[in-house]
Amino acid sequence: MTVSAQSAAHRAPIVSTLEDADPATITVRLRDLHKIYQLGVNEVHAVRGLNVDIPEGQYISIMGASGSGKSTLLNILGALDVPTKGTYHLAKELTSKLSRDELAALRNKYIGFIFQNFNLLTRSTAVENVELPMVYSGVPTGKRRAAALSALEKVGLADRANHLPSEMSGGQQQRVAIARSLVNNPRVLLADEPTGNLDSHTSGEIMKILDELHQQEGLTIILVTHDPGVAEFTERSIILKDGRIIYDQPTPRVGGPELPDVRTVSLAED
Ligand SMILES: Nc1ncnc2c1ncn2[C@@H]1O[C@H](COP(=O)(O)OP(=O)(O)O)[C@@H](O)[C@H]1O
Ligand SMILES: [Mg+2]
Repeated sequence: MTVSAQSAAHRAPIVSTLEDADPATITVRLRDLHKIYQLGVNEVHAVRGLNVDIPEGQYISIMGASGSGKSTLLNILGALDVPTKGTYHLAKELTSKLSRDELAALRNKYIGFIFQNFNLLTRSTAVENVELPMVYSGVPTGKRRAAALSALEKVGLADRANHLPSEMSGGQQQRVAIARSLVNNPRVLLADEPTGNLDSHTSGEIMKILDELHQQEGLTIILVTHDPGVAEFTERSIILKDGRIIYDQPTPRVGGPELPDVRTVSLAED
């Protein structure tokens, strides 16, 4: 599905550049990053030598055909997985120097996740789902409920707090997941195909929420998508092919010159 180009037309001009960002504001820095999966006797070289700087507050999309390494990259950025070679600095910390616990603490404090399948606990209500990250980060019980309700309010779901996921539409479930991703006040939001299971109208609503989080709260957002209409909301587009970056440019503006290679590569099946 495609979110109409029209709905992206209101966006502010690009604020971050690729080349001349102040080094002090770099929140993600990858150098010669590789990931090799060992599958029995076979090696799968999923990510092959990525070099990327992402300044604080940038809104960036990652596109590419199925198997190009998008999820592998996102998992490494989210400190859910570690690179085989190369370095990853998150918030100035060299992640390979951190212990498991330190890495988990950095992840809890710094990163929020949104997934294609929402990943909500089916037997827990919306507010209980949103409370969960605070359990891991040690927020006292008494404070969790209020923070979760406030996060639900931000995504327009205060009135659904006590509903189960099965009692909500896909778009509502994704909004619960966004609220959950926000409760620990992350600085970076990672989204893997967040609109992949939603119709185009609902996708537009989700993109509007992400846009507001970026514009109003200055969140850094790194979003994997197949949909060029979704990528158009972002400021910068990276395209991966076979684990390598083949394109890294400010996202073409609506009404501006189109870059056919963005479309060609990104429209591949997943
Ligand atoms: N856990 C894993 N073990 C082995 N190979 C994997 C694993 N995860 C991904 N791969 C392989 O790595 C490559 C990149 O996968 P992935 O990052 O999921 O791509 P994308 O998200 O762009 O579809 C693919 O060839 C995939 O089969
Ligand atoms: Mg993937």
